Amino acid sequence: MKSSAIAHSNIALVKYWGRSRTHDPSLNIPSTDSVGMTKLGESDDIRLLTHTTIEFSDVYEQDSATLDGVFLTGRAMERVLKVVNPLRTIAGISHRFKMMSRNDFPTQAGLASSASGFAALTIATVDGLGISLSKREISAFARLGSGSAARSIHGGLVYWYKGDSHETSFARQICGPTEFDMSAVIAIIHKGRKEVTSDVGHKSAHTSPFDRARVNISRKQAKDIEKAILTDDFSVVGRISEESSRYMHVVMMTSDPPLFYWHPNTLRLIKLIQKLRPSLECYASVDAGPNVHCLCRPEDAYELRKILDETDYVNMTIVAGLAGGSHKTGEHLF
Ligand code: DP6
Repeated sequence: MKSSAIAHSNIALVKYWGRSRTHDPSLNIPSTDSVGMTKLGESDDIRLLTHTTIEFSDVYEQDSATLDGVFLTGRAMERVLKVVNPLRTIAGISHRFKMMSRNDFPTQAGLASSASGFAALTIATVDGLGISLSKREISAFARLGSGSAARSIHGGLVYWYKGDSHETSFARQICGPTEFDMSAVIAIIHKGRKEVTSDVGHKSAHTSPFDRARVNISRKQAKDIEKAILTDDFSVVGRISEESSRYMHVVMMTSDPPLFYWHPNTLRLIKLIQKLRPSLECYASVDAGPNVHCLCRPEDAYELRKILDETDYVNMTIVAGLAGGSHKTGEHLF
Protein backbone atom coordinates (compact mmCIF):
# COMPACT_ATOMS: atom_id res chain seq x y z
CA MET A 1 0.00 0.00 0.00
CA LYS A 2 1.22 3.49 -0.82
CA SER A 3 1.41 6.18 1.82
CA SER A 4 2.04 9.87 1.34
CA ALA A 5 2.73 12.81 3.60
CA ILE A 6 3.32 16.53 3.43
CA ALA A 7 5.61 18.49 5.74
CA HIS A 8 6.80 22.09 5.90
CA SER A 9 10.31 23.35 6.45
CA ASN A 10 11.21 25.37 9.51
CA ILE A 11 13.58 28.15 10.50
CA ALA A 12 15.24 27.90 13.89
CA LEU A 13 14.73 30.91 16.13
CA VAL A 14 16.99 29.38 18.78
CA LYS A 15 19.52 27.37 16.81
CA TYR A 16 20.70 23.77 16.92
CA TRP A 17 24.37 23.60 16.03
CA GLY A 18 26.53 20.72 17.17
CA ARG A 19 25.65 17.27 18.45
CA SER A 20 26.03 15.93 21.96
CA ARG A 21 29.47 14.35 22.27
CA THR A 22 28.42 11.98 25.03
CA HIS A 23 26.00 10.06 22.82
CA ASP A 24 26.29 7.94 19.70
CA PRO A 25 26.61 10.62 16.95
CA SER A 26 24.28 8.64 14.68
CA LEU A 27 21.41 9.43 17.10
CA ASN A 28 21.61 13.15 16.19
CA ILE A 29 21.17 14.24 19.79
CA PRO A 30 21.87 17.96 19.79
CA SER A 31 24.06 19.81 22.27
CA THR A 32 21.25 22.28 23.04
CA ASP A 33 17.48 22.72 23.10
CA SER A 34 16.18 24.71 20.12
CA VAL A 35 13.02 26.44 18.94
CA GLY A 36 11.72 26.63 15.37
CA MET A 37 9.01 28.27 13.32
CA THR A 38 7.35 25.89 10.85
CA LYS A 39 6.91 27.88 7.64
CA LEU A 40 4.11 28.20 5.12
CA GLY A 41 5.10 29.99 1.91
CA GLU A 42 2.41 32.53 1.04
CA SER A 43 2.56 32.11 -2.72
CA ASP A 44 0.57 29.60 -4.72
CA ASP A 45 3.59 27.82 -6.14
CA ILE A 46 5.95 27.97 -3.15
CA ARG A 47 4.40 26.68 0.08
CA LEU A 48 7.82 25.55 1.40
CA LEU A 49 6.80 21.93 1.65
CA THR A 50 7.95 18.44 0.81
CA HIS A 51 5.54 15.83 -0.52
CA THR A 52 6.67 12.22 -0.14
CA THR A 53 5.20 8.89 -1.20
CA ILE A 54 6.54 5.54 -0.04
CA GLU A 55 5.48 1.99 -0.81
CA PHE A 56 6.73 -1.21 0.82
CA SER A 57 6.20 -4.27 -1.34
CA ASP A 58 7.69 -7.63 -2.20
CA VAL A 59 7.74 -6.57 -5.85
CA TYR A 60 10.72 -4.32 -5.11
CA GLU A 61 14.09 -6.05 -5.15
CA GLN A 62 15.90 -3.16 -3.53
CA ASP A 63 15.23 0.06 -1.65
CA SER A 64 15.12 3.13 -3.88
CA ALA A 65 14.47 6.79 -3.23
CA THR A 66 14.34 9.88 -5.44
CA LEU A 67 14.23 13.57 -4.58
CA ASP A 68 12.97 15.82 -7.35
CA GLY A 69 13.57 13.00 -9.82
CA VAL A 70 17.17 12.29 -8.80
CA PHE A 71 18.07 8.93 -7.21
CA LEU A 72 19.53 9.22 -3.72
CA THR A 73 22.83 7.45 -3.17
CA GLY A 74 25.66 7.48 -0.61
CA ARG A 75 25.15 9.59 2.51
CA ALA A 76 21.72 10.85 1.36
CA MET A 77 20.38 7.28 1.05
CA GLU A 78 22.08 6.30 4.31
CA ARG A 79 20.10 9.04 6.07
CA VAL A 80 16.83 7.76 4.59
CA LEU A 81 17.65 4.27 5.85
CA LYS A 82 18.44 5.64 9.32
CA VAL A 83 14.75 6.50 9.59
CA VAL A 84 13.20 3.64 7.64
CA ASN A 85 15.22 0.69 9.00
CA PRO A 86 14.31 1.00 12.70
CA LEU A 87 10.65 1.52 11.73
CA ARG A 88 10.76 -1.58 9.50
CA THR A 89 12.13 -3.50 12.48
CA ILE A 90 9.32 -2.25 14.75
CA ALA A 91 6.75 -3.25 12.11
CA GLY A 92 8.41 -6.66 11.63
CA ILE A 93 8.34 -6.11 7.86
CA SER A 94 11.26 -6.87 5.61
CA HIS A 95 9.83 -5.66 2.28
CA ARG A 96 11.93 -3.24 0.23
CA PHE A 97 10.54 0.19 -0.60
CA LYS A 98 10.18 2.71 -3.36
CA MET A 99 10.18 6.33 -2.18
CA MET A 100 9.59 9.47 -4.18
CA SER A 101 9.89 12.95 -2.76
CA ARG A 102 9.33 16.42 -4.17
CA ASN A 103 10.07 19.87 -2.78
CA ASP A 104 7.85 22.69 -3.99
CA PHE A 105 10.79 25.05 -3.65
CA PRO A 106 14.01 24.77 -5.62
CA THR A 107 16.47 22.62 -3.63
CA GLN A 108 19.18 24.77 -5.21
CA ALA A 109 17.74 27.98 -3.75
CA GLY A 110 19.64 27.46 -0.52
CA LEU A 111 16.51 26.89 1.56
CA ALA A 112 16.68 24.05 4.05
CA SER A 113 14.93 20.97 2.77
CA SER A 114 16.11 18.23 5.10
CA ALA A 115 13.67 19.25 7.85
CA SER A 116 10.56 19.00 5.68
CA GLY A 117 12.01 16.03 3.77
CA PHE A 118 12.65 13.83 6.79
CA ALA A 119 9.45 14.89 8.55
CA ALA A 120 7.41 13.85 5.49
CA LEU A 121 9.41 10.63 5.10
CA THR A 122 8.82 9.63 8.74
CA ILE A 123 5.07 10.26 8.66
CA ALA A 124 4.67 8.40 5.35
CA THR A 125 6.82 5.48 6.51
CA VAL A 126 4.99 5.03 9.83
CA ASP A 127 1.71 5.01 7.92
CA GLY A 128 3.01 2.77 5.13
CA LEU A 129 4.22 0.19 7.64
CA GLY A 130 0.91 0.29 9.50
CA ILE A 131 2.42 1.08 12.88
CA SER A 132 0.91 3.36 15.42
CA LEU A 133 3.23 5.89 17.08
CA SER A 134 2.63 9.06 19.08
CA LYS A 135 3.71 12.44 17.65
CA ARG A 136 6.49 12.46 20.23
CA GLU A 137 7.81 9.13 18.91
CA ILE A 138 7.44 10.25 15.27
CA SER A 139 9.40 13.41 16.06
CA ALA A 140 12.21 11.34 17.61
CA PHE A 141 12.41 9.06 14.54
CA ALA A 142 12.42 12.06 12.17
CA ARG A 143 15.42 13.35 14.16
CA LEU A 144 17.45 10.29 13.11
CA GLY A 145 17.33 11.52 9.49
CA SER A 146 17.82 15.22 10.20
CA GLY A 147 17.84 16.99 13.54
CA SER A 148 15.67 19.88 12.47
CA ALA A 149 13.07 17.45 11.06
CA ALA A 150 12.10 16.63 14.66
CA ARG A 151 10.63 20.16 14.81
CA SER A 152 8.89 20.04 11.39
CA ILE A 153 6.55 17.29 12.60
CA HIS A 154 4.61 20.04 14.38
CA GLY A 155 3.06 23.23 13.07
CA GLY A 156 3.38 26.72 14.53
CA LEU A 157 6.20 27.32 16.97
CA VAL A 158 8.02 24.28 18.21
CA TYR A 159 10.40 23.39 21.07
CA TRP A 160 12.91 20.56 20.62
CA TYR A 161 14.27 19.15 23.87
CA LYS A 162 17.83 18.02 23.42
CA GLY A 163 17.11 15.12 25.80
CA ASP A 164 19.69 12.49 26.64
CA SER A 165 18.52 9.43 24.72
CA HIS A 166 16.70 8.54 21.50
CA GLU A 167 13.35 8.58 23.33
CA THR A 168 13.84 11.87 25.19
CA SER A 169 15.15 13.97 22.28
CA PHE A 170 11.91 15.05 20.62
CA ALA A 171 9.98 18.20 19.75
CA ARG A 172 6.61 19.47 20.97
CA GLN A 173 4.43 22.36 19.91
CA ILE A 174 4.62 25.64 21.86
CA CYS A 175 1.63 27.13 20.04
CA GLY A 176 -0.34 26.52 16.88
CA PRO A 177 -0.01 28.52 13.64
CA THR A 178 -2.83 30.91 14.50
CA GLU A 179 -1.70 31.58 18.05
CA PHE A 180 1.29 33.85 17.39
CA ASP A 181 1.49 36.56 14.75
CA MET A 182 4.79 36.40 12.95
CA SER A 183 6.01 36.32 9.36
CA ALA A 184 9.39 35.64 7.83
CA VAL A 185 10.36 37.46 4.67
CA ILE A 186 13.03 35.20 3.24
CA ALA A 187 15.64 37.09 1.24
CA ILE A 188 17.51 34.86 -1.19
CA ILE A 189 20.78 36.58 -1.83
CA HIS A 190 22.78 33.69 -3.12
CA LYS A 191 21.41 30.56 -4.76
CA GLY A 192 23.13 27.22 -4.78
CA ARG A 193 24.00 24.40 -2.44
CA LYS A 194 26.16 25.14 0.57
CA GLU A 195 29.78 24.01 0.36
CA VAL A 196 29.73 22.35 3.78
CA THR A 197 26.54 20.59 4.83
CA SER A 198 25.10 21.03 8.34
CA ASP A 199 25.68 17.31 8.80
CA VAL A 200 29.44 17.93 8.54
CA GLY A 201 29.34 21.27 10.38
CA HIS A 202 27.64 19.78 13.44
CA LYS A 203 30.70 17.57 13.95
CA SER A 204 33.17 20.43 14.27
CA ALA A 205 31.10 22.83 16.43
CA HIS A 206 32.89 21.68 19.60
CA THR A 207 36.25 22.83 18.21
CA SER A 208 35.21 26.49 18.60
CA PRO A 209 36.35 28.05 21.90
CA PHE A 210 32.95 29.75 21.98
CA ASP A 211 30.89 26.57 21.64
CA ARG A 212 30.63 25.95 25.40
CA ALA A 213 29.41 29.51 26.02
CA ARG A 214 26.76 29.14 23.28
CA VAL A 215 25.62 25.79 24.65
CA ASN A 216 25.33 27.27 28.16
CA ILE A 217 23.22 30.21 27.03
CA SER A 218 21.02 28.34 24.54
CA ARG A 219 18.84 26.66 27.11
CA LYS A 220 18.01 30.01 28.68
CA GLN A 221 17.33 31.47 25.22
CA ALA A 222 14.98 28.59 24.43
CA LYS A 223 13.11 28.97 27.73
CA ASP A 224 12.96 32.77 27.40
CA ILE A 225 11.73 32.69 23.81
CA GLU A 226 9.01 30.21 24.74
CA LYS A 227 7.86 32.58 27.49
CA ALA A 228 7.92 35.53 25.06
CA ILE A 229 5.86 33.54 22.52
CA LEU A 230 3.29 32.64 25.12
CA THR A 231 3.02 36.27 26.30
CA ASP A 232 2.91 37.59 22.71
CA ASP A 233 6.11 39.61 23.11
CA PHE A 234 7.35 39.83 19.51
CA SER A 235 10.23 42.19 20.40
CA VAL A 236 11.77 39.62 22.74
CA VAL A 237 11.16 36.80 20.24
CA GLY A 238 12.94 38.82 17.55
CA ARG A 239 15.81 39.94 19.75
CA ILE A 240 16.55 36.40 21.00
CA SER A 241 16.28 35.02 17.43
CA GLU A 242 18.82 37.52 16.12
CA GLU A 243 21.11 36.87 19.08
CA SER A 244 20.95 33.07 18.69
CA SER A 245 21.71 33.34 14.97
CA ARG A 246 24.75 35.56 15.66
CA TYR A 247 26.08 33.25 18.38
CA MET A 248 25.76 30.23 16.08
CA HIS A 249 27.65 31.95 13.27
CA VAL A 250 30.40 32.99 15.70
CA VAL A 251 30.81 29.30 16.58
CA MET A 252 30.81 28.32 12.90
CA MET A 253 33.41 30.96 11.98
CA THR A 254 35.67 30.01 14.87
CA SER A 255 35.51 26.22 14.42
CA ASP A 256 38.37 24.20 13.02
CA PRO A 257 38.14 24.26 10.02
CA PRO A 258 36.30 27.60 10.07
CA LEU A 259 32.91 27.72 8.37
CA PHE A 260 31.79 30.94 6.72
CA TYR A 261 28.22 30.47 5.53
CA TRP A 262 27.69 34.20 5.10
CA HIS A 263 28.06 35.88 1.76
CA PRO A 264 29.31 39.51 1.94
CA ASN A 265 25.73 40.55 1.13
CA THR A 266 24.45 38.57 4.13
CA LEU A 267 26.16 41.08 6.40
CA ARG A 268 24.90 44.02 4.32
CA LEU A 269 21.38 42.71 4.74
CA ILE A 270 21.72 42.14 8.49
CA LYS A 271 22.87 45.76 8.81
CA LEU A 272 19.95 46.95 6.68
CA ILE A 273 17.50 45.07 8.92
CA GLN A 274 19.04 46.67 12.00
CA LYS A 275 18.76 50.11 10.39
CA LEU A 276 15.07 49.63 9.57
CA ARG A 277 14.34 49.35 13.30
CA PRO A 278 12.58 50.73 15.21
CA SER A 279 10.25 52.27 12.61
CA LEU A 280 9.77 48.86 10.97
CA GLU A 281 10.34 46.21 13.60
CA CYS A 282 12.22 43.29 12.04
CA TYR A 283 15.00 40.91 13.01
CA ALA A 284 17.47 38.82 11.01
CA SER A 285 18.07 35.10 11.36
CA VAL A 286 20.48 33.12 9.19
CA ASP A 287 20.75 29.32 9.03
CA ALA A 288 23.68 27.36 7.58
CA GLY A 289 23.73 29.34 4.34
CA PRO A 290 23.89 32.91 3.07
CA ASN A 291 20.14 33.70 2.92
CA VAL A 292 18.41 35.81 5.53
CA HIS A 293 15.06 35.23 7.23
CA CYS A 294 13.71 38.64 8.18
CA LEU A 295 11.21 38.18 11.00
CA CYS A 296 8.41 40.69 11.43
CA ARG A 297 4.77 41.04 12.39
CA PRO A 298 2.46 39.92 9.52
CA GLU A 299 1.11 43.46 9.01
CA ASP A 300 4.66 44.65 8.17
CA ALA A 301 5.57 41.75 5.88
CA TYR A 302 4.59 43.33 2.57
CA GLU A 303 6.28 46.65 3.31
CA LEU A 304 9.42 44.79 4.34
CA ARG A 305 9.23 42.63 1.23
CA LYS A 306 8.98 45.75 -0.94
CA ILE A 307 12.12 47.18 0.62
CA LEU A 308 13.98 43.90 0.17
CA ASP A 309 12.77 43.51 -3.43
CA GLU A 310 14.18 46.96 -4.17
CA THR A 311 17.56 46.03 -2.67
CA ASP A 312 19.88 45.32 -5.60
CA TYR A 313 21.71 42.34 -4.06
CA VAL A 314 18.49 40.48 -3.10
CA ASN A 315 17.65 37.97 -5.88
CA MET A 316 14.25 36.88 -4.69
CA THR A 317 11.96 37.10 -1.67
CA ILE A 318 9.42 34.68 -0.24
CA VAL A 319 6.92 35.69 2.44
CA ALA A 320 6.16 32.90 4.90
CA GLY A 321 3.71 32.61 7.76
CA LEU A 322 3.31 29.84 10.30
CA ALA A 323 2.40 26.45 8.86
CA GLY A 324 0.34 23.60 10.25
CA GLY A 325 1.98 20.32 11.19
CA SER A 326 3.02 17.49 8.90
CA HIS A 327 0.21 15.22 7.84
CA LYS A 328 -0.79 12.29 5.68
CA THR A 329 -2.32 12.92 2.28
CA GLY A 330 -4.21 10.71 -0.11
CA GLU A 331 -2.38 12.23 -3.06
CA HIS A 332 0.38 9.87 -4.19
CA LEU A 333 3.36 10.80 -6.35
CA PHE A 334 3.42 7.47 -8.25
C1 DP6 B 1 21.59 25.87 11.07
O1 DP6 B 1 18.93 19.64 10.94
O2 DP6 B 1 20.07 20.34 8.80
O3 DP6 B 1 19.51 24.98 10.39
O4 DP6 B 1 20.79 16.94 11.65
O5 DP6 B 1 22.60 17.06 9.93
O6 DP6 B 1 20.23 17.21 9.21
P1 DP6 B 1 21.22 17.45 10.32
O7 DP6 B 1 21.28 18.99 10.47
P2 DP6 B 1 20.15 20.04 10.25
O8 DP6 B 1 20.83 21.27 11.01
C2 DP6 B 1 20.14 22.44 11.18
C3 DP6 B 1 21.08 23.54 11.47
C4 DP6 B 1 20.48 24.91 11.40
C5 DP6 B 1 19.88 25.32 12.74
C6 DP6 B 1 18.58 24.68 13.12
O9 DP6 B 1 17.76 24.34 12.25
O10 DP6 B 1 18.34 24.58 14.34
